[in-house]
Formats: sequence, structure tokens, C-alpha cells
Amino acid sequence: MLLAALQFCPVRGDIAANIAAMQSLVAGQSFDLLVIPELASTGYFYTDPQELLPLCEFPAEGAFTQWMLQLAAQRNAPVIGGFAERDRAGRLFNSAFIALPNGEWSVYRKTHLFYKEKLIFQPGDSGFLVTEWNGVRIGTMICYDWRFPESARTLALRGADVIAHPSNLVAAKNLWGPTMCTRSFENKVISVTANRAGIETLQGETLTFTGESQIVGMNGAVLADCGPDAATIIAAEADPLATRSKRINSFNDLFADRRPQAYQ
Ligand code: ACM
Repeated sequence: MLLAALQFCPVRGDIAANIAAMQSLVAGQSFDLLVIPELASTGYFYTDPQELLPLCEFPAEGAFTQWMLQLAAQRNAPVIGGFAERDRAGRLFNSAFIALPNGEWSVYRKTHLFYKEKLIFQPGDSGFLVTEWNGVRIGTMICYDWRFPESARTLALRGADVIAHPSNLVAAKNLWGPTMCTRSFENKVISVTANRAGIETLQGETLTFTGESQIVGMNGAVLADCGPDAATIIAAEADPLATRSKRINSFNDLFADRRPQAYQ
């Protein structure tokens, strides 16, 4: 299975320009699963919900989520990307849209909000979702969820073979990169981190996004990555079904060996 992560620098507030940029990146690339960064259509740094609200989408009704559904159908491949979601009650969520080729979709709402996200978004209430397509189970977490081993563990225990990880990471790659290798290794799952590049400045404060998207195999080895500023798609072949057995030798199975009663 060809797994891919898209990295680019979104223009804050310009959904049409961001979709056009993503469209031109996907044009020359084949994939069986595509992961797109967190808040890819709107940009990241907002502190006023009234500014972000007009850019938010009801899932599958706005331009970006519809584009993802179209792309998934055209390529016969799931597409998972981060977007600013609003619900009918006017609440905002930092969410990932999981678009399937048959037109079905689901939404993961970010569990662990980072920094000034807490000024605008509600904490996610979806729980960690695992979606199945073509016999492959895809779990989703968003960016700062990486700091919590429970995120990847919960997805793995729920059967995820691949963890899709849309991100806008500001942490240095030498922190989050090896950590995601560990998340893959300790759960024997593949992880696909699609990070964004570039900077955003708001009210005199600048956030620098660290790029260097990466795809990690179930043994913790990096299968593909790229530079900090690249606008590109990285891709790697991996076998999701090989993650199903958690056995590591004739005596040990990573999940069967767990001792939850000792972790209380
Ligand atoms: C982050 O969660 N966007 C750092």
C-alpha cells in the first residue's frame, strides 16, 4: 500500500488558494492513502472565534471537505485532512475529515488542544476513531495528540494498522520525529505525519511550523521524510496487514503481554 503525506505552507484565511495549492501537489502523485496537515484550508493561528467562524465548515458541506471527498473518489483512496469544523450550535472544533472513496466520511475532533487553540476550539468529543477501508484500518489523531502515548495506544488497541497524523507542529523535529518512531514501535503500527511548513504571525507573535513530515514503519524506522520548508508529497510502501500480529518472538506479544491491572 502506497502511503502519502502532503506538506505545504497554507495561506492564512485563503481557503481557495490552499485547495489550489494542494490540488497542484496531488496532480503528479499516486497514493493509496493520503494525509494532509492540520487546519490545512484555513491556516493555524487564530485567537478570535468570530474571525475563524466564517472559514469553518460543516463536514462534507464546505469547499475543502467536498474537495477531499472528490479526491478520495477519483483516486479510490482514503484522504484524511485537518479542517476547522463548526457544528449547528456554533461550536468550533479542530477536526480531521476522513473521506472515503465511496462517499462515506467521519470526523475526528482533536482531543488534546494546544496553546491558544484553547481560546477558540472546544475539546474534541469524538474519541479516537478507527475507520476501515479495503480491509485496512486507519486511526486518526491530530498534532499535539502525539505528546500523549494514550492517543496512539488507544488507536492501536482499537485495531488501527495505520495512524494518520495531520499536524501543524511547532516542536523541533528532533523531539516529535523520534517520538512518533516510538509510537509506531511500541504499538507495532505504521504512522503518517503530515506536517505543515512556514510561519504565521498574529498580534506580534510568530509561530514557526517545522515541516519535515515523515512516514514510519511498524518497526519504528523512518520510511520517508522531507525538509522543513518543502511543498511536496512524500510516499512510502508499507504493508498494513503485517501490523495485525503484535507478536515479537515466540514468548512475547506486545498486546497480550500488557498488564493493565499493574498500571492503575
Ligand atoms: C499543535 O497541536 N498544532 C502543535
